[in-house]
Amino acid sequence: MIEKLPLGLYVHYPWCIRKCPYCDFNSHPKKSSGCTDEAYLESLIREFEDNLQYVDGREFLSVYFGGGTPSLFSPNLMKKLIDRISPYLNADTEISMEANPGTVSYDLLKAYKDIGINRISLGVQSFNDKSLKALGRIHDSQAAIESCENVKKAEFNNFNIDIMHGLPMQDSTLALDDLKRAIDLGANHLSWYELTIEEDTYFGIHPPKLPAEDELAQIEQDGFSLLEQNNFNRYEVSGYTRDIRCLHNQNYWYFGDYLGIGAGAHSKIKLGSKTYRKANEQKPSDYIQAIRDKKLCFKEVSAENLPFEFMLNRLRIFDRVNIDEFSVTTGLDFSVVKDRLIKAKELGLLNLDESSYGLTDLGRWMLNDILEMFLD
Ligand SMILES: C[S@@+](CC[C@H](N)C(=O)[O-])C[C@H]1O[C@@H](n2cnc3c(N)ncnc32)[C@H](O)[C@@H]1O
Ligand code: SF4
Repeated sequence: MIEKLPLGLYVHYPWCIRKCPYCDFNSHPKKSSGCTDEAYLESLIREFEDNLQYVDGREFLSVYFGGGTPSLFSPNLMKKLIDRISPYLNADTEISMEANPGTVSYDLLKAYKDIGINRISLGVQSFNDKSLKALGRIHDSQAAIESCENVKKAEFNNFNIDIMHGLPMQDSTLALDDLKRAIDLGANHLSWYELTIEEDTYFGIHPPKLPAEDELAQIEQDGFSLLEQNNFNRYEVSGYTRDIRCLHNQNYWYFGDYLGIGAGAHSKIKLGSKTYRKANEQKPSDYIQAIRDKKLCFKEVSAENLPFEFMLNRLRIFDRVNIDEFSVTTGLDFSVVKDRLIKAKELGLLNLDESSYGLTDLGRWMLNDILEMFLD
């Protein structure tokens, strides 16, 4: 029997108050958006309805409102979308929303809770005013602290804080101060990212002076120890939890299915033994037009690409891979990857036994080399 995979729903909200200099996500300043949230909502609902065949009767494991800054989308409008998808939700569905500290009050957070959001991911980045300024954030450390307190007061027990490290003028002491604050403020999940300088961003064109390589290594090493001492278990490259993992992200890494709606959103769905993908128009106005013209459609993924795509996602998460996961999620036979896994084992990059495989320490360092082996 062909199994149906767990399914997540990603909803992209493409606007922010202003663009941060390091950010290469599909986000645009709200002021110059030229389209209303009402028109955008209409497109989201239409896109959802037009793609119901890909939901294939499943309930969503997770819904994720990402951005941009979805906390600029009013709870009243968001509720209309949640009402439309409610037949596909159940009591356990994780419903996350990214929020930006400069945009949320206690009342607003409470309103999001009342419409069904049960997980908040707060983009704090740092609690240090100098770092926040260097990152061009719209909030200061006081607003970040108050927002964290309000998330707890609004009784979100599932609460992630995003923190970045390797920031201009940062040393290990300052980087650890940020992590300690986030832990003290009651997050049960932390996403700890090293600042990367992306092309086509302000920082890509005007690179800031970053800490030296040995300082970056020190920050990372000290951060890992601090998180471990505080019972934050690292379960993927940047994800740490005391208890509940982010089900939505975990489903990506396990090569589950996801329907993405909104500007620039991506989808991956397996129907029967075939896998399909869809990538939406990035610019909000182009996206709205494409939905009106019914131009966005799924395309079948060629079988040759699936081994690489599976490994790229699945090896990011640190759990061992069961032998049958590859065939369940891709519809292909395990023999397609078996020889390459054996070769990786011979090179000391993987532990492989009859029922499962996982990266060795060397394999973690040389992940890109392993992935290359799965490119056809
Ligand atoms: C999709 S962003 C959205 C979060 C939200 N808009 C905010 O900034 O408050 C998710 C997270 O990715 C991280 N991030 C974004 N750009 C990054 C970069 N260039 N390097 C490292 N982390 C980055 C930030 O921690 C950010 O909170
Ligand atoms: S608020 Fe978040 S999504 Fe928006 S520009 Fe800044 S980092 Fe990017």
